[in-house]
Amino acid sequence: MTKVGIVGFGFMGRMHYRCWKGLQGAEVVAICDSNPNIVEDTKKAVGNIGGSDEEVDFERVDLYSDFKEMLAGGDLDALSLTLPTYLHADYSIEALSAGLNVLCEKPMALNVKDCERMISAAKKSGKVLQIGHCVRFWPEYAKAKEIVDGGEYGDVIAATFQRLGAVPTWSIDNWFIDEKRSGGAALDLHIHDTDFVQYLFGTPKAVCSIGGEAPSGNVVHIVTQYLYGDRKAVTAEGGWAMMPGFGFEMSFNIVMEKGTIVYDLTRDPAFKVCPAEGDAFTPEVEQGDGYTLQTAHFAKMIAGEDVPSVTTLEESLNSVKIVQAEKESVKKQEKMPLA
Ligand SMILES: NC(=O)c1ccc[n+]([C@@H]2O[C@H](COP(=O)([O-])OP(=O)(O)OC[C@H]3O[C@@H](n4cnc5c(N)ncnc54)[C@H](O)[C@@H]3O)[C@@H](O)[C@H]2O)c1
Repeated sequence: MTKVGIVGFGFMGRMHYRCWKGLQGAEVVAICDSNPNIVEDTKKAVGNIGGSDEEVDFERVDLYSDFKEMLAGGDLDALSLTLPTYLHADYSIEALSAGLNVLCEKPMALNVKDCERMISAAKKSGKVLQIGHCVRFWPEYAKAKEIVDGGEYGDVIAATFQRLGAVPTWSIDNWFIDEKRSGGAALDLHIHDTDFVQYLFGTPKAVCSIGGEAPSGNVVHIVTQYLYGDRKAVTAEGGWAMMPGFGFEMSFNIVMEKGTIVYDLTRDPAFKVCPAEGDAFTPEVEQGDGYTLQTAHFAKMIAGEDVPSVTTLEESLNSVKIVQAEKESVKKQEKMPLA
């Protein structure tokens, strides 16, 4: 039985709890959160996507408010690290050094230097560190990647990705809207699509972004062109300045020579392939969601099973690097080269 601890029991901590609970051979035995009211607060609904509302049995876990105490007393094999982003690097490194495997939420860290520190700690420890780029595991996104790679519909002509919602307001001290602690909408939210663009097409040669600013001066909406030096048009738009009534949209259109793949969480059916000939259809996809599938993947990795490489630490670092270039492009109002 893999003994799991969760550190940071907000929206994503509860999401990870649900994922671990549904997985055979693993048990959440410890939870750490600095919030003294965590048991009561856990009953409140939070987040921009469903799945974090699993009932939590606090009787069956050791509850800690201090991470070092959890590491000392937990007798753990693995950790879900679902803390605010500015804590990812130091806490991951501490857990790896204590001999734990770590599933750390995205973005990997606030900057490339911290990502590098995490990679070297993982290498030194010999333990698994996986960054929660759940979109790579999201069944419809994974199927889209499979279809594009398969080449059945020819080359990609254009691809657009959207991720839009209201500003996250569920965190205790509003760390999300503090750019220094979250990296803002680009690093926190839009990175999902940057990472998926990288997964589909590799690192772009350059990025060209424009950003919409809130009165605070923070960029709350970003639109990026990923330039590959060929004829395909790849863009992504992410923002958290939508009004609450808008809800949450994650969507994409991938336009190929002989088919179009469409996904939009807000539509029914959400997913379809529209071939050049014949009717549009919804392909079968893997059961579950990106969170459960990434957790299952991580569990297999720590069990030493032979699994396909879906996400690497170098790619997670690279996604942070690409988003940094996007933010730089917004600021300088010019195209930023990569590589
Ligand atoms: N993969 C996704 O789809 C997705 C979605 C939302 C957030 N995230 C990421 O997950 C991470 C957490 O986001 P969230 O929405 O769960 O935030 P949150 O604010 O809801 O939860 C963070 C929790 O950490 C606790 N905490 C803060 N400092 C602590 C410390 N030093 N020790 C112990 N506990 C501490 C807080 O009390 C809080 O309960 C972020 O990096 C965010 O970018 C990922």
